[in-house]
Amino acid sequence: MERMITLDTQKMPKEWYNVLVDLPKPLEPPLNPATGKPLTPEDLSPLFPPALVEQEMAQERWIPTPQEVLEVYALWRPTPLYRALGLEKALNTPARIYYKYEGASPAGSHKPNTAVAQAYYNAQAGIRRLTTETGAGQWGSALAFATRFFNLECTVYMVRVSYNQKPYRRTMMEVWGGKVYPSPSDKTQTGRSILENDPENPGSLGIAISEAVEDAVTHEDTHYALGSVLNHVLLHQTVIGLEAKEQLAQVGDYPDVVIGCCGGGSNLGGIALPFMADKAAGKKVRLVAVEPKACPTLTKGAFTYDFGDTARMTPLLKMYTLGHSFMPPSIHAGGLRYHGDSPIISLLVKEGVMEATAHYQTEVFEAGLLFARTEGFIPAPETNHAIKAAVDEAIKAREEGKERVILFNFSGHGLLDLGSYDAFFKGELQDYELSEDEIRKALEELEKLAVR
Ligand SMILES: Cc1ncc(COP(=O)(O)O)c(C=O)c1O
Repeated sequence: MERMITLDTQKMPKEWYNVLVDLPKPLEPPLNPATGKPLTPEDLSPLFPPALVEQEMAQERWIPTPQEVLEVYALWRPTPLYRALGLEKALNTPARIYYKYEGASPAGSHKPNTAVAQAYYNAQAGIRRLTTETGAGQWGSALAFATRFFNLECTVYMVRVSYNQKPYRRTMMEVWGGKVYPSPSDKTQTGRSILENDPENPGSLGIAISEAVEDAVTHEDTHYALGSVLNHVLLHQTVIGLEAKEQLAQVGDYPDVVIGCCGGGSNLGGIALPFMADKAAGKKVRLVAVEPKACPTLTKGAFTYDFGDTARMTPLLKMYTLGHSFMPPSIHAGGLRYHGDSPIISLLVKEGVMEATAHYQTEVFEAGLLFARTEGFIPAPETNHAIKAAVDEAIKAREEGKERVILFNFSGHGLLDLGSYDAFFKGELQDYELSEDEIRKALEELEKLAVR
C-alpha cells in the first residue's frame, strides 16, 4: 500500500480550472462601493493588473498557467498526496483517509500557489511594489517569498494579535525582503483613526485589508494582492485539487468527501473546486467547509452584499458575512478570523452544493495533536479544522461500518505556530462560541447597507 503518492514532475497541471463555468448559477456581480453599480474592469485597475481582472470574470473553463509561474511552482510542486495510514489505524476506521500536503512550499502553506501567480502578473504590468494584509503570517510570508522572484517590493500589514503571537513569521517575511507593520498601524489614515479611539486594538483581517488597499491606491506604482476570497485566487489554488485527483486516480481511488478549512475559502476552493465539474455531471462527492465556531461565517452569517474590509474601501461582494465591522475573538487560527467568505464558496453553500461545519478550537487542536502523533507532520492551527472534520468523518464510517474515501487539504505546517500548541498544553486555549445576541449585533451593521 502506497503511503506517499507522488506525481511525476512532467504531470504538474499546466492550466488552472475556472469553476465559474460550472456553478449552479452565475455569481451576482461585485458592486462599486461609491456608486452601488456593478464593478467595471476600470474600477479594479488601481488595485490589480489587467490579467487578474480578466481572470476574475473569465468564461473559459481552463486558464493556462504561465511558464514563469510553472518554473517557480517546480520548487515544490507537485506536492505529495499521503494516505493517512497512521491516523486510520489510531481511529480503527474502515475509511481511507488521504491528505494533500501543501506544507511543502518554501513558505509552508498553500498560499504561494496564488502569490507567485499574482507577483508574476503584477511584474508583467510594470508594478514596482505589492501591499497586502496577513493574519497568521502565512499569506504575508507567501507574498514576500513570491515577490523575490519577480523583483517586486512587498509591504505587509500584519494583524497585531498575530504579529505578537508569531514573531518568527515576521522574521520570515523580512528574510525574503518584505516590510512588515502591525495592523492597525500608524502608516495609514485608517490605522491612525482606529488607534486614536482604541490604542490596544488587536486588529483584524478586515482592518489590515483596509490599510493595504489604502497604501496601494495612494501610490501610483503599487498594487494590492489579496490572499483569498477573490475568484482569481481560488482559480490559482485549483492546482491543489487537480494534482490530488490525478494522484488518487493513480491508486484507483475517488473521494466520497473532500474537506478543507475555510477562512476566505482559497485552500478549500483549491482542493474542492476541481471536483465540481464531476459533481455537476452527477457524480456523488460531498464537499465540506470547516470553520471556527468563534468566526462562523458560513454557518451563522448572512448571505448578502458586504464590504471585504472594515473601512468600506473594497467592492461590495455577495457572500456569507458576519458584517464588515465584526471583530472576531483572538483565536489561534488567525487565518480563519475573517468576517466574510469567497463569493464562489458562499454561493455553493447557499445552493446546497457544499456543506459547512464549525468547531471549537480545543477540539480542533486535539485532532491536530492526534494527527501529529500518528502522521508526524505538525499542522497549522487552521489546518487542524480540516483534520477535525476528517477525523469525525472517519469515526462516522467506523460507526456505520462503511468504507469511505476521505480527502482533505493539509493547508500548512505549524512549525511557526508552536506557541499555540504550548498554549493548548497549558490549558490556556479558550472555546469561543458566538451567542445569538453577538451574531445579531454583528449583522445589524448590514441592515444599514442599502444593497441586498
Ligand atoms: C495554513 C492556512 N490554512 C488555511 C488558511 C485559510 O485561508 P483560506 O481559507 O484562504 O485557505 C490560512 C490563512 O492564512 C492558512 O495560513
